[in-house]
Amino acid sequence: MSTAPRRTVRRGLLAAGGASALVAAALIIPATAAHAAVVCSVTYQANTWNEGSGGGFTASITINNRQDPVNGWTLRFTLPSGQTFTQGWSANWSGTSGAITATNASWNGNLGTGASTSIGFNGRWTGSYSSPTAFTLNGVACNGGTGPTTAPPPTTAPPPTTAPPTTAPPTTAPPTSPPPTGGPRVDNPYVGADVYVNPIWSANVSAEPGGSRIANQPTGVWLDRTSAIYGNNSPTTGDMGLADHLDEAVRQDAANGSRPLVVQIVIYNLPGRDCAALASNGELGPTEIGVYRTEYIDPIREIMSRAEYRALRIVSVIEIDSLPNLVTNVGSRPGATAQCDTMLANGNYVNGVGYALAQLGSVPNVYNYVDAAHHGWIGWDDNFGPTAQLMAEAARASGSTLANVHGFITNTANYSALREPYITVDSTTRQSSWIDWNQYNDELSFAQAFRQRLVQAGFNSGIGMLIDTSRNGWGGSARPSGPSNASDLNTRINESRIDRRIHKGNWCNQSGAGLGERPTAAPASGIDAYVWIKPPGESDGSSSEIPNDEGKGFDRMCDPTYGGNPRNGNSASGALPDAPVSGHWFSAQIRQLMQNAYPPL
Ligand code: BGC
Repeated sequence: MSTAPRRTVRRGLLAAGGASALVAAALIIPATAAHAAVVCSVTYQANTWNEGSGGGFTASITINNRQDPVNGWTLRFTLPSGQTFTQGWSANWSGTSGAITATNASWNGNLGTGASTSIGFNGRWTGSYSSPTAFTLNGVACNGGTGPTTAPPPTTAPPPTTAPPTTAPPTTAPPTSPPPTGGPRVDNPYVGADVYVNPIWSANVSAEPGGSRIANQPTGVWLDRTSAIYGNNSPTTGDMGLADHLDEAVRQDAANGSRPLVVQIVIYNLPGRDCAALASNGELGPTEIGVYRTEYIDPIREIMSRAEYRALRIVSVIEIDSLPNLVTNVGSRPGATAQCDTMLANGNYVNGVGYALAQLGSVPNVYNYVDAAHHGWIGWDDNFGPTAQLMAEAARASGSTLANVHGFITNTANYSALREPYITVDSTTRQSSWIDWNQYNDELSFAQAFRQRLVQAGFNSGIGMLIDTSRNGWGGSARPSGPSNASDLNTRINESRIDRRIHKGNWCNQSGAGLGERPTAAPASGIDAYVWIKPPGESDGSSSEIPNDEGKGFDRMCDPTYGGNPRNGNSASGALPDAPVSGHWFSAQIRQLMQNAYPPL
């Protein structure tokens, strides 16, 4: 019944079948004192691969300012002949061959004495590969006479120094302080910790009237495409890649005294993504599990495992809206789609989640939380147990073990109320159309019960739950102030519920929603935290077809004129009009979310 979603497949770093080689070239380059306003060290590290008489490469460049602080910088170097620049990140780039110029991005122009910043680009090469040999920073030659050398990566980095070295020792790593040692994982990473504030989201929300009231709240950083790992100028991640966010997290951690810092990264790029909806279809086709492993998960693991991030508590939220679809939207189920049948049959959701868990779980300071849908999806008996079993199957796939799972998250990017204070779930109220025989009517009771069911399925009894409360507040003038006395059951439930949606299956840009509980650590038994993983103000999907190069389709659940499908009881969509493509900034939505916040702002 479903049509094949439009999808743009973007190939990332490694060409299929291409041989990959690490070519490390490094310089620590003092300028001569006679010219020196800036003394810099530059490391230039290239990952290359062959496709015959040439190939591609990814260059990672770290600039370390070793003398006077600079406010704004320009790095220049020359690509060897036969090489071309294709796409860069974390700087403004110009030049395609020969002379290349990188100027600072808005957020990394200030480099104090000893400070470093990392930038990078992709390119092509022909003939034989070699790295550039000379760099200037703000016009000052950094070449103290030493060219790049190829050397294995050092296990420790040299300490920072403010004095230019008299000789230029080659290194492949920027000078940093010795990495802090992180302890073993703690039971609940949120306890006693602060949580990373994404400066891009913070700036977006600050630009809205009244937005400063929430601009310091932590939100999730979504790696929703391979290019997001490197910074792709998307509306909400801007030009910050994963390493830029983690660098900024290290700065926030340094600024908050002795409290640890949690940083929340969303892993969201499975093959055949979002098989029951079109608005967040991704870049990878159903069979591209190999690309997912090598171009998406492996680079993320490499970045997360860097020594400089060892003291961060990295929460990875694994693959929203994937596994539960394989229970509820397949086979003879009324909501079945051809794409979900495909993803069940080819095993790529299960194997992809297993791979992400195994790889990221191997990083000692990563805490994996797997997406577990929400009560209005798997709270029915025939979905509840089978979903828990499928979670256990995925956590054992691709070399993973159950121990790689620290917990689960419910309600990500959804609108289910945390508590329904005026409704008791019993044998009478379960007969209402709203509850419809579900065992649960709110997220808190569901998350606590599902935690126990997951432990029964084999997960560690110490697992904790996260609940996304970014948009489930349901305050404002439509919020009931107490239970209804109506004698008709459906009227009574409808007048008593705080969740004002038309149907619990509605998920796109819901009209009337408000911000929910502010992010809070350990708010209830079994719950590690309330979190804002879906950044409020970022659209769930466009309300009409909008061409884009992000692989995003048009799902009529985001169209306010749509009459629904079996997954929402053939009800109206309840979506706000005039919404942009998923993930893009939606000003009208954030204004309504603030207006209807509960607790109020
Ligand atoms: C979109 C992503 C976006 C995320 C957070 C998802 O619905 O598909 O592109 O990053 O929401 O806003």
